[in-house]
Amino acid sequence: MKIDGIPYRSIWVDDDGWSVRVIDQTRLPHAFAVARLTTAADAAEAIRGMTVRGAPLIGATAAYGICLAMRDDPSDEALDAAYAMLLATRPTAVNLRWALDAMRDRLRNRPRDERVAAAYACAAEICDDDVATCRAIGEHGLGVIRDLWEEKGRPDRLNLLTHCNAGWLATVDWGTALAPIYMAHDAGIPVHVWADETRPRNQGASLTAWELGRHGVPHTVIADNVGGHLMQHGLVDLCIVGTDRTTAGGDVCNKIGTYLKALAAHDNGVPFYVALPYSTIDWTIEDGATIPIEERDAAEVTRITGRTSGGTVVTVTVTPEGSPAANYAFDVSPRRYVTGLVTERGVCPATKDGLLSLYPERKSA
Ligand code: MRU
Repeated sequence: MKIDGIPYRSIWVDDDGWSVRVIDQTRLPHAFAVARLTTAADAAEAIRGMTVRGAPLIGATAAYGICLAMRDDPSDEALDAAYAMLLATRPTAVNLRWALDAMRDRLRNRPRDERVAAAYACAAEICDDDVATCRAIGEHGLGVIRDLWEEKGRPDRLNLLTHCNAGWLATVDWGTALAPIYMAHDAGIPVHVWADETRPRNQGASLTAWELGRHGVPHTVIADNVGGHLMQHGLVDLCIVGTDRTTAGGDVCNKIGTYLKALAAHDNGVPFYVALPYSTIDWTIEDGATIPIEERDAAEVTRITGRTSGGTVVTVTVTPEGSPAANYAFDVSPRRYVTGLVTERGVCPATKDGLLSLYPERKSA
């Protein structure tokens, strides 16, 4: 996607040919800053501290973390240590494990003197594949949006609701849930997006709103509690969100609060779609209840960061002194609330059979 006319991905190799550049998402929307990662520990910290976030980008960053580790020491021991360190950064998004497995499989049986080059080649493939995959998700999701718009008699405004940030910042480019929205906008469909603020870290207010604004997509930021009311009043035509892990049975784990939107959509007959690449499907489990749910620092709940009218970015405390807070980062929307899964191979029901119809090679797995 372009920022001020300059095309960007969310992660790339620096002109020096080895260090890794990422957009520092902790600084948005108040500043556009690029961070440089030079060690595997830098990559791990970028994931843990959410300089980078979003399931596919976490995977891509971990892949480059392995590259940086191999530069320092291409031994099996270093590979295993970097794998373990990076895997431990965040527990929920399965793309992390997927990317690390791909890297380790590629490097494991190679001579040590080939490992650095092979690692950078594999990480680049993971990134290019993510871009192509998200573009395909966008095209399939565009079909869903277009059909709905036609079905509704081509209204002047088609209201979409999304939660968290599943845009290009969360992937390498395009995004998952936002890719169809960008394509619909570009195709002249008059989409308007309700962007849930997504407390506690405000990925919707800070990142989704920033992305949509940069692309010229009409949008309105809403508090997390507003969606149900909008749906009751016919002001949401379709919900579309991303996911950090979708089970082989079709249960969808995504940013905390997604479940409440899925419930409200179900109660109000609003279609609820989930957009995802194949790397987000966890074929090893069927029941979403077994997905590990990340619990983060309570300070993300008790404190909030924003810009003063004078332009200074400050963090303030919003809770009483001494009140404990809990910070569950993800929840699971059971498959029965999901209208469809939008993947790079097409749209399917959120069921085991639905997924297998798109990924028949998994039948024998
Ligand atoms: O905690 P985050 O910001 O990493 O959570 C991100 C999400 O929940 C996204 O919706 C998900 O990763 C899908 S991104 C294409």
